Parts: sequence; C-alpha cells; structure tokens
Amino acid sequence: MNQIPPERLRKIRTWLPGPKSSELISTTCNRVDRPLIDLASNDYLGLNNHEKLIKAATNVMNTEGVGAGGSRLVTGTRPIHIALEERLAHWLGRANVLLFPSGFQANLAGVITMSNRHTTVLIDRLAHHSLLLGVKASGSKIQRYKHNNLQDLEQRLTKCTQTSSDESPVVITESLFSMEGTSPSIKELAQLCNIYGARLMVDEAHALGVMGSKGRGLCHGIKDSIEIISGTFGKAFGGGGAFLASNKDIKEQILQNSGAFKYTTALAPPLAAAALAALELIQDNPQWGEELLSKANDWRNLLVQKGWSRPPGHGQILSLEIGSDQNALNAQNQLEKAGLLSVAIRPPTVPENTARLRIVLRRNLPDQAIDNLINALAFE
Ligand SMILES: Cc1ncc(COP(=O)(O)O)c(C=O)c1O
Repeated sequence: MNQIPPERLRKIRTWLPGPKSSELISTTCNRVDRPLIDLASNDYLGLNNHEKLIKAATNVMNTEGVGAGGSRLVTGTRPIHIALEERLAHWLGRANVLLFPSGFQANLAGVITMSNRHTTVLIDRLAHHSLLLGVKASGSKIQRYKHNNLQDLEQRLTKCTQTSSDESPVVITESLFSMEGTSPSIKELAQLCNIYGARLMVDEAHALGVMGSKGRGLCHGIKDSIEIISGTFGKAFGGGGAFLASNKDIKEQILQNSGAFKYTTALAPPLAAAALAALELIQDNPQWGEELLSKANDWRNLLVQKGWSRPPGHGQILSLEIGSDQNALNAQNQLEKAGLLSVAIRPPTVPENTARLRIVLRRNLPDQAIDNLINALAFE
C-alpha cells in the first residue's frame, strides 16, 4: 500500500509541476527499477486504498452509476451528496456545507463569493494558486502580506480601514501550507480580523483529517470572523472532490451567484460515497491525526539530532530547505537510491534559491522509513 511501483512512478514524474519536469523525467526515471516508499503523496491517512472507501464507492457506483449526469441545481443532486454535506457540517460545527468537484473550484467559488471590485483582499503571499486566481477573477484590490506574518497583516488592515470607505476587507490564508509545512495561528488571525471588521476565509486542504481537535482542522471551535472554510477530499480523505463550509448567508450567495458551483457537473456520487466513508473512519478513529503529528515531531527531532535545521511547523509535511535546484535534485536522487520517493520542489513553485525536499508523512509508513531517510540524507 505504501510503495509505488516503477510504472506508476514514471507516470508521477510526468505530472510534476513547473517547466523543469521534463528534465526530471529524463534524469531520474530510467534508473528507477524497484518500488519506492512514498514520502511525497498527500494521502496522509493512507485511505486511498482503504477497503471501506472502495466498498462505499463501488456500492454507490452500482446503484447510481459513475457520474452525476448533471449540475447540482438541475439533475445532479443525489442523497449521498446531501448525507455528506450534513455530516460534514455537523462534524465541523458549521451551519452549511456545499460540495464541489475539486478544491480548486471550491476556492474559486469561495473567494469570488466573498469579494468584488470594491473589496480589498489581503492574502498570504504563499497562498495556493487557486486562491490567488479567485482574487484576480473577483476584480478586487489585492494585497499579499508576508507569509504568516500577523504584524504585516495588521499594518495593512490598519491602513485599509483608515483610508478606504470600501466594504469590509477580506483576509485569505491556509491552515497548513503544503510547501512550507507552516501554519498561521488561526486564533490570533481570527481575533485580528474581528478587531478590524475583516472577513476571513481559510483553506484547510492539508490540515483536515489530521490537525486540530479530532482532525477537524485548525479552524475548529473558532467562530470569530471565519466565514468560509474550504476543504478537499483529495488529500487526507484519500479520494477526490471538495467542499466549502460556511454560514447560511454565504451558502445562499453561492447557490444564487456562483458559476463555479452552478455550472459544473456535480461531484461524482462514488467519490461522495468514498468521502463519507473516509469521514466515518476519521470520526471512529479520532486519534489518527494526533498519532501522525506525534510521529512528525519524532522525525523533526531526529533530523535536528543529525544536524539539520528543524523543519518549520508542526504538521505532517516536513520541508527540508536545501537551497540550489541542483542540490535539491541531488538529494532527491540520493533518497531514490535509498528506496524513498520525495520530490525536489523548485522555483517557480517556491521562491528562487529555496529549493527543498518535501517530505510527507503518512499514517501507514513502514517503521524503517525514517532510518532510511536519515541514512540517505547523510550523504554529504
Ligand atoms: C492548499 C490547497 N488548496 C486547494 C487545492 C486544490 O484541491 P483539489 O486537489 O481538490 O483541487 C490544493 C491542491 O493542490 C491545495 O494544496
């Protein structure tokens, strides 16, 4: 389950982002002749192949078919969509949830619903492309504040509220940044937004299922200012599809105005069934997230003992900054020789000279993975 066969790895190589992916295929692919332990995917809880997800998806596929055949507001809504929306809303303690076919689309819908050309949007400068694209599509005035820097955000909010007679500003961030492994303090951020009358949207794509109380994300229990939470089933939930959780007003606005919700085929029913099965598993195993985070802490400690800087953050994503693109590629190759798959993330995905290895922990990693990693990193 946690090893990637060479054929699939070849395909993975071809999907890597950025202009240098072809170079990566030719320099690394031909050498891979055995399965590698996957330290790169976002299947954090190892649910992608879980029998309960497969069974749930298969059952629904047998009764409902593969696709929804229409958009939610026409013919696409099925009982499984409603069941998943209600259970998610209850789990997260939010009034409403709406499903989307992907997190990218959910983010576009969320940002465009919250902002327009009269709005100033303050967005973390390392936020996901889908969030940035949403801001651009909304026509709002964009300000990109320093990564996780609440002081910078506060200065901008002060100016914004002093100088502008526009609508309330909107603040957008993620709760676990996938290339950095870092998180903002959502509580402080929400308080700040409350003070300045700003509305907050948080993308919990990488935190949900793992971080926060019982895996319910870092926004759980915080009501101040948070108007939209976005989540995806493509990561810890092991499947595909996504959602926005919000209050009733926002839900109504999305239903009335959001093209990204209205004019797209509804989430495939088997994927909705798999997401519901994943949610049930996460609810039945509330300790999974904490166990994974505790393992991530052990890994961070071991890396420090071996002379590495402590990877920032507390989550299951360990970002080991290497520097030059070539050194990061060398490190990736070294890991590959040790039977580990970790991908060198390079510009333009990350800023120049901060190429890094992104090491992702999963619940079902074999015990020897950390020893292999430490040995492989000791190459210099
Ligand atoms: C922070 C963040 N938000 C949203 C998405 C998009 O989610 P999806 O894969 O469901 O489209 C991703 C996926 O890369 C992500 O990393």
